[in-house]
Amino acid sequence: MVQEFNKVGVVGLGTMGAGIVEVFARAGFHVTGVEIDTSALERGQNHVQTSLERAVSKGKLTAEEQGAIMGRIAFSSTREDLGDADFVVEAVPERMDIKRDVFTDLDSICPPGTILATNTSSLSVTEIAALTRRQEQVVGLHFFNPAPVMKLAEVVGTVNTAPGTLEVVTEVAKRIGKTPVTVTDRAGFVANALLVPYLNHAASVYERGIASREEIDTAITKAAEFPMGPLTLLDMVGLDVSLAVMEVLWEEFRQPRYVPSPLLRRMVSAGLLGRKSGRGFYDYSTGKNPAEE
Ligand code: 3HC
Repeated sequence: MVQEFNKVGVVGLGTMGAGIVEVFARAGFHVTGVEIDTSALERGQNHVQTSLERAVSKGKLTAEEQGAIMGRIAFSSTREDLGDADFVVEAVPERMDIKRDVFTDLDSICPPGTILATNTSSLSVTEIAALTRRQEQVVGLHFFNPAPVMKLAEVVGTVNTAPGTLEVVTEVAKRIGKTPVTVTDRAGFVANALLVPYLNHAASVYERGIASREEIDTAITKAAEFPMGPLTLLDMVGLDVSLAVMEVLWEEFRQPRYVPSPLLRRMVSAGLLGRKSGRGFYDYSTGKNPAEE
């Protein structure tokens, strides 16, 4: 079945969606990236283009390969263009009302055999699946930022996901060069349930004035050889996304270690979301990350 699994749809072309389009196209799939907001569609297209150009300039791709990859990608502002997709990955913002709109639409547009996956990091896959009439063919396929680089893909099954669907999606994850792990639909799945409380804790350490932001980041990069310190990583992942994960962990488990840091909450309220808004723990308005200076 996976061999015939040729046309993929990606709905939502923010940073994650654009990265997911690139991953599938590089692995040889024909991909249609759908974004109904036309300026976001243009940004998503540019994101893919720039990422491939960077790979060419580094000698990781030839210009021919780049052309072939772009030739496998179609961009569209209409979900109806996914009427012949075998597999669709949703990567729209983390709001249930938006997911509802997308999944009810996809359920009526896509043929009965199409598998629908959500890249959600903070909403229940079970709740999303229940929006459709094909719960056995709905899964979570959770990528990590930056999607073209990070190797993990969490394959999230619900009580209603068919074992065959999990097998196919696990196989697809391998074909796109990811290392799949199969997990149950619980808040934070596995990786975020471990990682995001650590990031949240770093925000608390900063809030308590124990060390400067640079010292906190340096402590971790040098102590544990992590590629990024936690405050830099929070800025990259997005403070809003991290807060959303903390909130579902708290909601589901009610354990003190999942209480969101007050500073994180205030920064999100103030619009300091990290790189995407130009400022988080660091200021990116100059185009440079001060943590790297
Ligand atoms: N898109 C595509 N490729 C990118 C990229 C991006 N945004 N950022 C970096 N890359 C590529 C570079 O092109 C380079 O590729 P190459 O090896 O083929 O030349 C490679 O990644 C390394 O990049 P750089 O040399 O520029 O920079 P670094 O060595 O500092 O690596 C990093 C950057 C890969 C982001 C690294 O710092 C890292 O791994 N950081 C940790 C990221 C992480 O933990 N992500 C998980 C976050 S949690 C999450 O996403 C879950 C969510 O639900 C909250």
